[in-house]
Amino acid sequence: MTVLITGANGQLGKELQKLLLEKKIDFVAADVSEMDITNEVLVNQFISEVNPDVIYHCAAYTAVDAAEDEGKELNRLINVEGTRYISNAAYHVGAKLVYISTDYVFDGTKATEYTVDDVPNPKNEYGLTKFEGEEAVRELIDTHYIVRTSWVFGEFGKNFVYTMQSLAQTRQTLTIVNDQFGRPTWTRTLAEFMVHLIESDAEFGTYHLSNDNSCSWYEFAKEILKDTDVEVLPVDSTQFVQKAYRPKHSVMDLSKAKATGFIIPTWQDALNQFLGR
Ligand SMILES: NC(=O)c1ccc[n+]([C@@H]2O[C@H](COP(=O)([O-])OP(=O)(O)OC[C@H]3O[C@@H](n4cnc5c(N)ncnc54)[C@H](OP(=O)(O)O)[C@@H]3O)[C@@H](O)[C@H]2O)c1
Repeated sequence: MTVLITGANGQLGKELQKLLLEKKIDFVAADVSEMDITNEVLVNQFISEVNPDVIYHCAAYTAVDAAEDEGKELNRLINVEGTRYISNAAYHVGAKLVYISTDYVFDGTKATEYTVDDVPNPKNEYGLTKFEGEEAVRELIDTHYIVRTSWVFGEFGKNFVYTMQSLAQTRQTLTIVNDQFGRPTWTRTLAEFMVHLIESDAEFGTYHLSNDNSCSWYEFAKEILKDTDVEVLPVDSTQFVQKAYRPKHSVMDLSKAKATGFIIPTWQDALNQFLGR
C-alpha cells in the first residue's frame, strides 16, 4: 500500500508520520516545498508519480483570524482550490482520500451535540472554506472520508496546551474564556482514527472525531495547569474580542466514529497521557 500525506510538516501531519513509522507503514510525506497544493499542474504530476492508494490530506490554511482579511485569498486558494486539486488527482489515480475538516463548519448555536447529518452554517471565512473543501471532496471523489475535528493539541506545532504552559512560566493569574464549549482532540487520537478508517475498511462518508467529554476553554486550561500554582479565572468571551467568529457550543456527536469500533479516550485521559502524568 502506498500512502501520501499532504501538509506533512504540520501539527497533525507530523503526528501521522510518527504513527505510521511506529506501525511500519511506508509513506511519502509532502509539504508545501514538495507539493504546493495550490499548483494544479504540480499536484497532478506529483500524485500520478506517487500513485498512492491512500491520501491523508492534512494541508490547510489554519490562521483563523488572518483568514478574515489579509489571508482571505490564500485561505480560499489553499482550503478550497487546493482541496479540489487533491480530490481530482486522488480520483484519477483511484486513491482513497481522508480529508480533515473542522467544527467551525457549524455556527455553534445548537444546544445539543452536532451530528454528522446536521446542516453546516459556517460563520467565519476559515469555516466557510473548510466546508467548501468538504463539498469539493464529496463532488469529486466517492472513496472519501471527511473527518471533522476540533480544538487540536499535540506534540508538534502551536496549540492551546503549549500556550497555557508557556503563559504559566511568567504569569501568576490567567483569565480564560468560560462560555465557549467544545471537545479537545489529541493529534495522536485523530491520527489513530485516520489509520483505523483505512485499516477497518470503514464505510466512506463524513465522521466527527475528537476526544470524548466536553469542556470550556477555562476547564481545559484548569486541567492543563492543575499541577502548577497558577490561578485560572473564568471570563466571558466578550472580554476577548477576536477578528473571526467563534462558535459558542461546537460539541460534535462521536457516535458514528464509535460505531466503527474505534475506542475514543476522554480529553482528560488524552491530555494526561500527552503530558506524561
Ligand atoms: N488545529 C486545530 O485546532 C484544528 C481544528 C479543526 C480542524 N483542523 C484541521 O486539521 C488539519 C491539520 O491541521 P494542523 O493543526 O495540523 O494545521 P497546521 O499545523 O497549520 O498544518 C498545516 C500544514 O499545511 C501546510 N500547507 C499550507 N499551505 C500549503 C500549501 N499551499 N501546500 C502544501 N501544504 C501547505 C502548512 O505548511 P506551512 O506551515 O509551511 O504553511 C502546514 O505544514 C487541517 O485540515 C485543519 O484545517 C485543525
